[in-house]
Amino acid sequence: MKILVIGSKGQLGHELLIQGNNSGYEILPADLPDLDITDKTQVKHWLERFQPSFVVNAAAYTNVDKAETEQNFAFAVNRDGPANLAEACAKFEIPLIHISTDFIFDGKKSSPYIESDPVSPLSVYGKSKQEGENEVRSRLKKHIILRTAWLYGVHGQNFVKTMLRLGREKEVISVVSDQFGSPTSAADLAEAVLQIISRIKYSDNINWGTYHYCGHGITTWHVFAKEIINLAKHYIPIKTITVKPISTAEYPTKATRPCFSALDCNLIKKNFGINIKPWQDSLKTVIRQVCQKETEK
Ligand SMILES: NC(=O)c1ccc[n+]([C@@H]2O[C@H](COP(=O)([O-])OP(=O)(O)OC[C@H]3O[C@@H](n4cnc5c(N)ncnc54)[C@H](OP(=O)(O)O)[C@@H]3O)[C@@H](O)[C@H]2O)c1
Repeated sequence: MKILVIGSKGQLGHELLIQGNNSGYEILPADLPDLDITDKTQVKHWLERFQPSFVVNAAAYTNVDKAETEQNFAFAVNRDGPANLAEACAKFEIPLIHISTDFIFDGKKSSPYIESDPVSPLSVYGKSKQEGENEVRSRLKKHIILRTAWLYGVHGQNFVKTMLRLGREKEVISVVSDQFGSPTSAADLAEAVLQIISRIKYSDNINWGTYHYCGHGITTWHVFAKEIINLAKHYIPIKTITVKPISTAEYPTKATRPCFSALDCNLIKKNFGINIKPWQDSLKTVIRQVCQKETEK
């Protein structure tokens, strides 16, 4: 069975290639410059040529702060790209798994967001992803929109890698302690995507639509950073003695982020039987892998 993975060079795309190949699927990797999802003709051409059984869209414009000044670019990739994919998938009758984000919420809730909660993004990135979701919903029945949060992995740039770099360089690190969410390992998310595909393949009773998937448990960037530093000490020399909590106001960024964006994952558990791992367990695995990779260099 062929699965077209778009955004194959990204954090999630990379994990999908490894795990998809290991699971015996024929994975067709696609990313810039070979496939640009903002180009409608190219998208149609790829689907026509390769005729995959599934398309996974892990491609996105993910620079949240830069999106504030590159609005057109962000909307082209995060809204028009999914629109092109959904239209082509509808034409060739291919189900689409599209990845979205917790940043479509405004963070005013105090309990985990469920799929039907109203969305109200605070940033250009969040708005562009919200509109991307709408484009998929309006163009293609057989879609799964998977919202995730605080994604990190062995491959690519992310918060974990930044903390490891700072941990080697600085005695004190200051990290925001008033934003709450759920760190999610890209490897776990890839596993969930492949489980959904397998379920769709073997069942004719699928509840298409929007789902949440993130690591189990709610934390802050500050506690996340402390855990990263503590785990890394087992593998690499760490200079950091103190991880200092600071407020969002003390760390101004171009884009406003939700102060609470934990996602309720009960629906994906119920409909697809997907197990949600505690974020601390997955972090242990990734830290070990990243540090081992670095010491091998
Ligand atoms: N990272 C997070 O913390 C986070 C949190 C919540 C949700 N998400 C969502 O999770 C998904 C995967 O995120 P990720 O962190 O794995 O992303 P990523 O590492 O930034 O990878 C995205 C990939 O898409 C490619 N891409 C960008 N524009 C494209 C285009 N026009 N056509 C084809 N490919 C294009 C990128 O190439 P270039 O690098 O060359 O641009 C990159 O290889 C995204 O939908 C993202 O919105 C991420």
